[in-house]
Order: sequence, then structure tokens, then C-alpha cells
Amino acid sequence: MNLPNMKSAKIRGEKNVEYRNQENLFSTQFEGKKYFIRTYGCQMNVHDSEEICFIVENLGFQKTEILEEADLVLLNTCAIRENAHDKVFGYLGRVKHLKRNKPDLMVAIGGCMPQQESVTKNILEKHPYVDIVFGTHNIHELSKMILNHQKKQEIEVYSIEGNVYENIFYKRDSKITAWVNIMYGCDKFCTYCIVPYTRGKQRSRKMEDILKEVYELKEKGYQEITLLGQNVNAYGKDLKKTLDFATLLEKVAMIGIARVRFVTSHPWDFTEKMIDIIAKYDNVMPYIHLPLQSGSSKILKLMGRRYTTEEYLTLFHKMKERIPNVAITTDIIVGFPGETEQDFMKTLEVVNTCKYDGAFTFIYSPREGTPASKMKDEVSDFVKEQRLQILNERINQYSLENNQKYINKIVPVLIQGISEKDKNKVYGYTDTMKLVNVNAEKNTIGTIILVKINAAKSFSLDGEIVISTKV
Ligand code: 5AD
Ligand code: SF4
Repeated sequence: MNLPNMKSAKIRGEKNVEYRNQENLFSTQFEGKKYFIRTYGCQMNVHDSEEICFIVENLGFQKTEILEEADLVLLNTCAIRENAHDKVFGYLGRVKHLKRNKPDLMVAIGGCMPQQESVTKNILEKHPYVDIVFGTHNIHELSKMILNHQKKQEIEVYSIEGNVYENIFYKRDSKITAWVNIMYGCDKFCTYCIVPYTRGKQRSRKMEDILKEVYELKEKGYQEITLLGQNVNAYGKDLKKTLDFATLLEKVAMIGIARVRFVTSHPWDFTEKMIDIIAKYDNVMPYIHLPLQSGSSKILKLMGRRYTTEEYLTLFHKMKERIPNVAITTDIIVGFPGETEQDFMKTLEVVNTCKYDGAFTFIYSPREGTPASKMKDEVSDFVKEQRLQILNERINQYSLENNQKYINKIVPVLIQGISEKDKNKVYGYTDTMKLVNVNAEKNTIGTIILVKINAAKSFSLDGEIVISTKV
């Protein structure tokens, strides 16, 4: 049994990152058995779940979408805010109930929540029906844990700085778009954020391994890849050879896959060279997610974000000037400790200036062990809710205005599946990451087609096929 420790998770030592090969255990032990997986949180977790699915299918399990059918329930969890945490414990209640009638049901919890000391302790003491607890550093041990499991709880949660595993296999959700990890962990330690503790220190994958993976995805017919990291523009800073994200992005673009995206960027590491590469290559999509967090330099300082409002705006304007047709989205937190009405007004001012294409907005949620959780928080819940509502109204207004500019335009859309809203339509995304529901045949799925936009809402566009550019 290995329990997590937040103090160890904070350490950023000189220890060299080890590059190891993942061992994939194969067994027929669970043939005929079914697994059910539920994923919470960010794209990193979504992609980790693709790895988890491969691991359990290699043991003989088959996927089911129906919880009640499952012999193994896997919850891949998120720790970023308290409500993510509450959702998981709420769902666990359902699973516990299920296990009463099905005592052989195996329950496994992984991801970011177990990396928190208090959570794993709580599972150990109060949730004995949970069989397996694995951390973000222990995914490669999951097959062993499942095969070894007897009666006792199996807990493996390391709080090490972290290593890099290669030779990872995934059961990818899509045959059209794919995630590609370029780095793991984060060294930024923004004062509100739990990620540097749950995901370990920044470790970049070697460039040749990333390029090989992208090349193989292209050969398999993938139309789009998204380079994935907590802070992709810091790519390479931890590698001995000096390497930067702009160089990697250019090399990836040159492989020639139709669409290349990346997420997430921190304004601090965003270089001029990166802007140039995005502008230069047609297959690097003109879409940037650039978290603001707050429009007040005072709050940004308390958040440990390392930029002022002015510096953020300078970068923002440079992107808009130099990347034709670029769409920019953001993340904003309201109610950070010490945020006054004036500070909040400054956030609204930046939103008015940037007129974002979209934003994820959050009420600040204290996370145990982070510096901000010890800061004095005098803003009432009522005021925080009010600020969030005002902010959301403003954000939605600008999303709608930006989307309305698309009406009557003809834009390329990568079609990804049947529309959820209308089974007679298909859906896809523009190069600027706008969701479009399209009047077109199902055989357009997996291709980029030209679409004439007829209508715009805050969160999506409607259109009809004009011409198919690729078959
Ligand atoms: N409280 C609220 N929002 C948070 N985020 C990260 N940590 C917290 C927290 N403690 C938000 C940030 C980040 C996004 C992924 O989640 O805006 O960019
Ligand atoms: Fe968290 Fe900041 Fe790292 Fe993003 S850059 S994962 S907000 S610590």
C-alpha cells in the first residue's frame, strides 16, 4: 500500500526524470466480464481514460455504457474544484448500493482525487467497498492491481515528482481526432491550483517520441491531433537539450496532418516565435485558449500568475493582429480571496476589451494544501454567485456576437459525428473551434467539408453543406 503525501508532492528536486517503457499485461482472466468507466475533469483525464480502457480490455474486460451491467466500475476523477469532488462521492453512493446486490463487483478510483491525502484517507476509513485506489502516477500498475486484488483494499498512490512512460497504448474514443501528450505535470504553482501536486513536476516527452506518435496517427487516417499539456508552451524547458514549443509545433505541422491544435497555454511562456508558427502554417488551427483568471493585476499577483493585466492585453492584441481570423477563449475565476468589487470590475473591463469567443468561468474553490487556501477570504458566497452571473451574461453576449459574424459565411468544418440535437444532422468544428450542426449526409463524417452558416447561438452554429473538400 502506498498512500499520498502532499508535502512530497510539492518537491521539485534535481532528480532526473526516468523514461520508462510501459509494460502492458495481457490476460484472459476477465473474458466475458464488463467494465464501466466514468471520467471527470480535463482533457488530460479524458486521454488517461483512453489508456485505462486499453489496460482493462487487455485483461479481457469489455466496455459497457450501462452501470448496472458492470463487473468493474472505474471512476477517473478530478480534484480541481470542490464540486468535482462532491460529484464523485455522490456517484459512489450509487455504486455502493449496486455492490450490495452484486458483492463481486470491483470498484476502482483513479485520477487526481486519490492524489489528495485527505481523500484517500477518507476512502480507506469510510468507503471499504472501494477495492482499488490508484493515482495519476500509478496508471501503469492498474493491471497488476486488478489481477492481484483479493479481499483487501489495494491502494497505490505515489507522490513522486514523476517519470515519463513511453510505449503507451490507448483505446482512442475517436478515429478522426486524437490527443497527444507532449508533457506531464506542472511547475507553475499558481496559488489556487492543486494540479502541480496531483500531477507532479513538469516532464516533457522527447520530441522524437511525439513526432513518431503524430506520424503514426496520420498514417492511420486521423484528421486532427491536439497536443496536450497543462502548460504546453513551457514544453522542453525541463529537457537537457534546449527545445521549445514553437520548434515542436512547427515539426508537428510539417508532418502534414490536416489539423493541429494544442491546449492549454499559459500567457507567461507564450513567445513571439509561437505566434509566428501559428500564423505561418495553414494546418495549425487559429484557435488559442489563453486563461486570464483575473483582470486585476493585484489579484493576478496573489494568484502567482507572473503577468499583469497590461502584459496579458499586449499578448492578446499581438495574437489578434498577427494570426488572421484567430479565436481566443479563456478561463476566469471570480471570488478569489481579497477580490474587491473594483478588482471584479477590472475583470469585466478586460472581458469588454477582449470580447472572447468563449470562456470557462468558475467560483474560486479552496483546495487543501495550496497557498491560497490559507488566504483570508472575506467575499460572501452570495457576492461570488452574483459576480459569476454578471460575468457569464457578459461572456455569453460576446460569444453570441462573435458567432453572429459567421452568418452567411462559408467555412471549413471537420465533421465528427451525428448531431446530438437532431439525429438527421451531423456535427463538427470550424478551424476556430466553433461547434456547428450541419445539414449533410452521414457519409461526411471524418471529412472536412465547406459549410454555409445560417444561424448562430451563444454556443453553436447551424449550417448546410456547400461542398465536400476531402473524401
Ligand atoms: N478554484 C476555481 N477554479 C480553479 N481553477 C483551477 N483551480 C481552481 C480553483 N481552486 C480553474 C482555472 C483553470 C481551470 C482549469 O480551472 O481557471 O484555468
Ligand atoms: Fe494550475 Fe497554474 Fe499549472 Fe495551470 S499553470 S495547471 S492553473 S498551476
